Formats: sequence, C-alpha cells, structure tokens
Amino acid sequence: MSDLVQLTKDQDVAIITINNPPVNALGPGVPEGISQAVKEVTQDESVKAAVLMGAGRTFVAGADIKEFGKITSGKTARGAGLLPLLRQIEDCPKPVVMAIHGTAFGGGLELAMSGHHRVGAPDAQVGQPEVKLGIIPGAGGTQRLPRLAGVAKAVEMCAQGNPIPAREALDYGILDRLIEGDLLTGAIAFARAVLGKPAPKTRERNQKLGTPEQNAPIFAAARELARQKQRGMIAPLAAIDAVEAATRLPFDEGCEVERKLFNDCLFSDQSKAFIHVFFGEREVAKIPDIPKETPIIPVNSVAVVGAGTMGGGIAMVFANAGIRVLLKDADPPALDRGMEVIRKNYSSSVRRGRFTQQFVDERLQLIKPVLGYDDFDKVDMAVEAVFEGMQLKKEVFGQLDRGCRPGAILASNTSTLSIDEIASATARPEAVIGTHFFSPANVMRLLEIVRGKASSKAVIATCMQLSKKLGKVGVLVGNCRGFVGNRMFGPYRREAQFLVEEGASIEAVDQALYDFGMAMGPLATGDLAGLDVGWRIRKEFRHLEKPGTRQPFAEDRLCEMGRYGQKTGAGWYKYDENRRAILDPEVVDSLRKWSAEAGIPQRKISPEEIVDRCILALVNEGARILEEGIAVRAVDIDIIYLNGYGFPAYRGGPMWYADTVGLNKVRDRISEFHRQQGELWEPAPLLKRLAQEGKTFAEYHQSQDLTAA
Ligand code: 3HC
Ligand code: NAI
Repeated sequence: MSDLVQLTKDQDVAIITINNPPVNALGPGVPEGISQAVKEVTQDESVKAAVLMGAGRTFVAGADIKEFGKITSGKTARGAGLLPLLRQIEDCPKPVVMAIHGTAFGGGLELAMSGHHRVGAPDAQVGQPEVKLGIIPGAGGTQRLPRLAGVAKAVEMCAQGNPIPAREALDYGILDRLIEGDLLTGAIAFARAVLGKPAPKTRERNQKLGTPEQNAPIFAAARELARQKQRGMIAPLAAIDAVEAATRLPFDEGCEVERKLFNDCLFSDQSKAFIHVFFGEREVAKIPDIPKETPIIPVNSVAVVGAGTMGGGIAMVFANAGIRVLLKDADPPALDRGMEVIRKNYSSSVRRGRFTQQFVDERLQLIKPVLGYDDFDKVDMAVEAVFEGMQLKKEVFGQLDRGCRPGAILASNTSTLSIDEIASATARPEAVIGTHFFSPANVMRLLEIVRGKASSKAVIATCMQLSKKLGKVGVLVGNCRGFVGNRMFGPYRREAQFLVEEGASIEAVDQALYDFGMAMGPLATGDLAGLDVGWRIRKEFRHLEKPGTRQPFAEDRLCEMGRYGQKTGAGWYKYDENRRAILDPEVVDSLRKWSAEAGIPQRKISPEEIVDRCILALVNEGARILEEGIAVRAVDIDIIYLNGYGFPAYRGGPMWYADTVGLNKVRDRISEFHRQQGELWEPAPLLKRLAQEGKTFAEYHQSQDLTAA
C-alpha cells in the first residue's frame, strides 16, 4: 500500500484514508493506492463494507493541478485518467461509503460519486470548479452528477463552478446523510446500516436524466447565462455540452464525449492561463525576503480617516471581517453623508440577499463615526483616506503619529503619492505602509500593499495576512507614482485617447477592448472612475512631463467642459437616468475639431491596432515595473490586473498574455509603434533582453528585493 493511502479496519468495515497533504489532491500514487485498497477490500472476506475518507483538513480537493502542465507540455501522458478507478470502486461488490469533510471538489466529487453512498459533515462543501481552471470535469463528473442531482443542478454546478454546502448537496441527492459529531464513527455506522441492502451504482441511476423536452430549456438558459456571465470562456459551454451528452447517450459514450471536450479545454491557451492564475493567486502571498515566521501584529480594531468614497467602503470591509472601526472625518456633514452611504449600501445588500439584516445590524454596530482623534490610542491600525494631496496627507500622518499607540500600523490609501514622503511626517516610518484599496472598496478584490523604504517586515507581513482576512487578494508592490496598477493604466488610457485623436471612433476603441475581453472599454472606464481624477493628477505632475513628448488632450478638454464622466452625467459619453451610455455628437464634433487644430492626420484604425496599442502599452510599462523591482514577479502584475482592472482571466493577465503572444512578436510590434509614434513607445530594456534570449516574463525572477527599488 502506498504511503499516500492507508487501509485499516474497524471489525468488518475497512477504512481507506487518503493522506496527501495539504488538500489530498489525486496526485501520482493516490489513485494507485485507492485502487490497491479497493482490491484488498474486495478480496478480504472479513470485510463487509468500506468507508473512504480524507486525512487532515479535507476530503479530496480534486486532481493535482500541477500535473496538468506536465500533460500539456508533453512531459507525461494523460492516459485514461481516473475513469477506470472510479468504475472499479463502483463495481466493488461491497458497499463503499464516501465520508466527506472540508471540500470534495473536482476529481474529489467525482471520486465521491463513484461510491455507493455519500455522507458528509454539515460544514462540508462539494463542487465541480473545473471551469475556473478553464477545463471541465474529466472523470465522469458531467455524467454522474446529473444522475444524482438532476440535470438543472448539474449544469449549474459544472458550468458555473461554484461549490454548494452540504445541506444543499443533501437536498439534491448528492449526499445521502449529514453526520453530526465524529464523521468516521457516523460513516462506519452508516456502512453497517446499509449492509445487505442494494448498493446503487451512480452510472446506472438514470431516473433524474429528464426528457429532451424538459432539458432543452435548461440547456438553452445555461448557454445564454454562460455567454453573458462568462463572456469569452470556452469551458462553461463545453461543460454544458458534456452534461447534455449525459442526457442523450449511454454512460460510456457520454464519458467519451466528456473526455474529448476535457482534452480540448486542457490543451487550450485559456486553461493554461487559468492555471497560471490559480497558482499566481497563491504565489503573490509569498514575499522572498519575508519569512513565513515573521511575527504578525494582531489587528482587532482600526481607525479610518476620511469618510468619503473610499473611507466608507474601507470601513465596511473591516466591519465585514468583524473588526471594530472608528470612522473619522474632519467635516460633520461629510461624516453624516459617509455613514448614510454605508447604511444605504448595506440595505441594498440585504435587498439583494447578500447579507441578512442581523449581519448588517451587527456590522453597523462595529462602525463608530467620530470627528476627533480621541480613542485613536486604542486602535491597532489606522487607514488614511482623505483627499489626495501631499500636504494634507502629511498633516494627517503627523496627527496619527501623535495620536496612535506605539506599534500601531499607519496606512495610507493614496493612489499616487509617495509612501516614503508620507512616512517622513512621522517619527516611525517603519510603521507606515500603503494599503491601496480599489473602488468600490467593499466590492473590489484587489489590495495593493505599498512597501515604503522603511516599512518593517512585521507591518508588511501583517498587511499581507490581513488582506486574506478581509477577503482581498493582497499584492505587495514598491513605492513609485501610481504603484503597479495605476502606473500601467496611464499608458493604456493614454493610447486610448491618442487613438480617438487619430480618428478612431469612441465606440470602436471601447468595443475593440471589450471584445478582447476587458470588462469595459477604456473610455467608458474613464467615465466611471471620473475623468477629473486623471485631469487633476496631470495638472499636479505636468512639470514631470518631458517637453516635446506627445500628450493626450481630449480628456483635459472634456473636463474643461465640465464633463467629468458619469458623476456629471457626461464625459466621453452622455448618460441617461439609468446611467446608460449614449454617444454624444457634441463630443464627436469637438474631437474632430481639436484634432484638426492639433494637426493630427485622421485615418481608419483597425480593431487589431486598437488592441495592440492599448494592451502592449500595459505590457511595456509592466516590463519596466518588473525590472525596477516594483513588482516581485510578472504574475504579481497579472493578479493586479485581473482583480483590479477587469483584465480577462482567460488571458492570464497582461504579462502572461505577452508571453503567449511571444516576446519576440511583442517587441517587434512595440518597435513598430516606436517608429510611428515616437519615444513614448521605446521598448522596455527587459522586454528587449528577454525577447533576445527567447525567454518569457514568467521565467524572469528579480534577484533584488523590493527595498532596492
Ligand atoms: N492540486 C494541486 N495543488 C493544490 C490543489 C490541487 N487541486 N488545491 C490546492 N492546492 C495547493 C495550493 O496551491 C496551495 O499550495 P501552497 O501552499 O504551496 O501555495 C495549497 O494546496 C493550499 O491551498 P489553498 O492555499 O488554496 O488553501 P485553502 O484552504 O485556502 O483552500 C481549497 C483549499 C478550497 C481546496 C482550494 O485550494 C481550492 O479551491 N483548490 C482547487 C480545487 C479545484 O479546482 N479542484 C479541481 C481540480 S481539477 C480536477 O479535479 C479535474 C478532474 O475533473 C479530473
Ligand atoms: P473623497 O473626496 O470621496 O473623500 C475624502 C474625505 O476625506 C472627505 O469626506 C473629506 O471630508 C475627508 N477629509 C479631508 N480632510 C480630512 C481630515 N484632515 N481628516 C479627516 N477627514 C478628512 O475621496 P476618495 O475618493 O474617497 O479618496 C480618498 C483617497 O483614496 C485619496 O487618497 C484617493 O487618491 C484614494 N483613492 C481613491 C480611489 C477612488 O476611486 N476614489 C481609488 C483608490 C484610492
């Protein structure tokens, strides 16, 4: 028996335990071990039934995702996968009871469904999350799940990939019983209770498969939903096709269809991108010079300074995680408005069923509005979110330095200003750090954690860990103007403006990037975020622009016309009362006039050029950021773009996308723009070097740590 699977006995019941930490993935050795154990169970006459479970924190969380890369790169052959093992379990003449705790995901749920019975801990979860990796269930999940849960539920679970709790799994027939108390004891008792009763094989349970007439609307609705909510992704539609095959074909033929669709997805660029993202989200938590054992500062209470758009959202984020918040503003009406917005946001969450009224009442109890710095000496952390201006930020940090207790973390939500300069207003720069939330803070997953020159390791480690507790993806970045996300967004939006100034239509620019997969086009995004934000920043930093370099003018002119975007009802577009964007002839005419005045020749611009100009502007700036050590790894940039800027996950992020295009091609295209457009397009040195060496961004590792930046 392999070390990864143990076989023990409780009198006449065999216990098969999978022990492959941390999540009992079905990596090499595990299927073989299970197969061997089932063989012994079959042969051992003293055994009447078997219980199969996972050791440690969970049942089986799925196939080993690391193996997929080996298959697609040709290092290992896929073979028949898990199907023969699952058939062996199903054909075992003695009842096999699957005992589920933690998560039975992907191949884990497929394994569970091959048992004759399933029992679960009340807090267990089951799911087929494969689409989130760009693949579909590949071990009969699309064939067995509809037989247990019915077609509609199976389609939903396989196409959307969201897990369901044990209680729901029981209602749908995926679990046969919930076990309160000790799972193994309960599962053994269950196994004895079913002895002598027929042991149902899932693959033969056809009662829930429905008729073509019943199923047609289910599949049509699922496809429509997938096209809307998972735009551009191939796996959800493939998953629906596979479940449909279960309703039309005998089990074995259905498995064949599933197998083909699974392979198509596995070898697609989309799946490689999603797998990159899966590991990337975990990798960003690892900072080369900050060991895992770095002490963490307990954060049980915080103060948020500034009750505006960001401060209010940040207060909700902390309260949602059960952390007490003092919400301070200098201006009484602003504080009242801030609290009112929080209440309104919570009420709408209750209306939409996201939170219960009780949860919301408890959260509101945790937020205390204040006007002064009293009680700041009792908080573990302060987060500043006042207007964006260095003078004001320094004043506030001076106050925080005087008002907060030694050891408290002093964080700024600034989106552009230097953390080091802000820290210089205190006598404890080691306690100062940037926590750059994205708007709306209570919704967006990204948190850029900005490391100042002096930020202590404990402060950094605490913020990284805290991000997880707050339900955010924390990514550590270095201190520079705009940090990673906004610094790259500058050239991206600059190119969008240049394109319209050169003759592309506003809708053509937005449509091309939307079709590329961005959540919104860049001009519509500007209207949403407020064009005045960039306008103010450009005015503040105009002295840093190199004389003679081309600068976009369209947004500045729109702002001068009072068109700040959605907040003023007009920006690039005008907006009706439902905030629907409508093209405004006034802007179209003005653009042509401004371009003529500036002497910019007008031409027809293809969607390909629009995408390349905008996306490669991101990539070129990303390459500089990487070389400067502002981002720890290329994947950190990708995770920022996926979680904060609406970049399509199926393309893996801008740096991964560039790797898939090939850095040679990317360099050549950027060089072409350099020749046409001038020095703003100078290819980044790192890009040139990696292209020359035939390498990728993913292979590049900074040797220095971020403090060198
Ligand atoms: N394969 C390989 N490694 C895995 C893994 C898997 N299926 N699931 C998790 N891991 C690794 C993580 O990379 C991480 O490694 P690290 O510590 O070196 O960074 C470690 O296990 C712990 O994972 P998390 O940090 O994510 O731990 P959490 O407790 O937060 O979450 C989880 C646990 C809910 C199980 C989460 O890891 C998860 O969702 N895993 C993926 C589940 C999944 O997608 N399963 C389907 C796989 S595809 C499949 O089964 C195909 C089949 O149909 C043939
Ligand atoms: P806002 O204008 O909505 O709110 C700022 C609040 O700070 C106001 O309520 C104001 O009364 C208050 N304030 C000013 N001086 C104060 C003081 N001395 N003490 C206490 N309160 C004071 O601004 P917003 O948009 O919330 O931005 C705040 C910060 O977050 C800025 O640094 C901004 O750059 C950053 N940011 C903004 C994002 C956005 O999309 N709005 C996104 C990410 C960061």
